[in-house]
Amino acid sequence: MKQQLLPSQLPQHIGIIMDGNGRWAKLRGLPRTAGHKAGAAIFKKIMTHCGERGIKYVTVYAFSTENWKRSPDEVHALMDLFMQYMEDAKNYYKDNIQIHIIGDRTPFSPEMVARMEACESDTAAATGLHLNVALNYGGQHELTQAMQKIAQKVKAGELAPEEITEETIEQNLYTAGMPPVDLIIRPSGEYRLSNFMIWQAAYAEYVFMDTLWPDFGPKELDKALAVYAKRNRRFGAEEPEDKK
Ligand code: IPE
Ligand code: IPE
Ligand code: MG
Repeated sequence: MKQQLLPSQLPQHIGIIMDGNGRWAKLRGLPRTAGHKAGAAIFKKIMTHCGERGIKYVTVYAFSTENWKRSPDEVHALMDLFMQYMEDAKNYYKDNIQIHIIGDRTPFSPEMVARMEACESDTAAATGLHLNVALNYGGQHELTQAMQKIAQKVKAGELAPEEITEETIEQNLYTAGMPPVDLIIRPSGEYRLSNFMIWQAAYAEYVFMDTLWPDFGPKELDKALAVYAKRNRRFGAEEPEDKK
């Protein structure tokens, strides 16, 4: 299907909650980790497709601050997968994709943190799609650490409480300087944010799909973009004349 969307109909920033790997594996009688592998295998294709469609920013939810509750085996398998995939950074650079890893890095091994930094520096010169990979990310944690940083400035006398604005908070998030999230896509039939981008998605459009993440392809992405293009975004204002 050839997409005929105008640049003005495209979201600037998409958030994707990559969900349903476990159920995909269960349906096939496979271990959950096989679902994660299958999910990781389609990831690059979708990101390249986003770049080709002219999307500027994508943030993908890969591991939440709550996902440590899973079995040690599953957590280990996920960390191994992240390590492997970060080795692929040069291929992202070839596709003009710039990678940023967002989230709290403190619980990760020094090897993993070094790999994250290498992944970012190896792709830093890319000028196309800006890809944020959320690893040990939680929206509530992100806001908590932003508030701690702001409070430190107030304590040091560098900032007065009444000078704190929405911009001050934004500047202290992982997504500082990036546009807000316009579209959240959640496959797998779940209807929740699960602590993803709670500030950035304040005015996002939501597209929930039943497809499980390992079955998600360029066609599903185009479908979500087409649904988004038909939405009437008002941001609290009255409906524009041409949309009535
Ligand atoms: C998403 O798939 C991947 C991660 C959370 C890391 P799930 O593992 O949550 O898959 P389901 O929801 O159990 O099917
Ligand atoms: C959200 O999925 C986190 C990621 C996709 C990384 P979960 O599967 O962890 O979310 P819940 O538990 O269904 O809310
Ligand atoms: Mg899930």
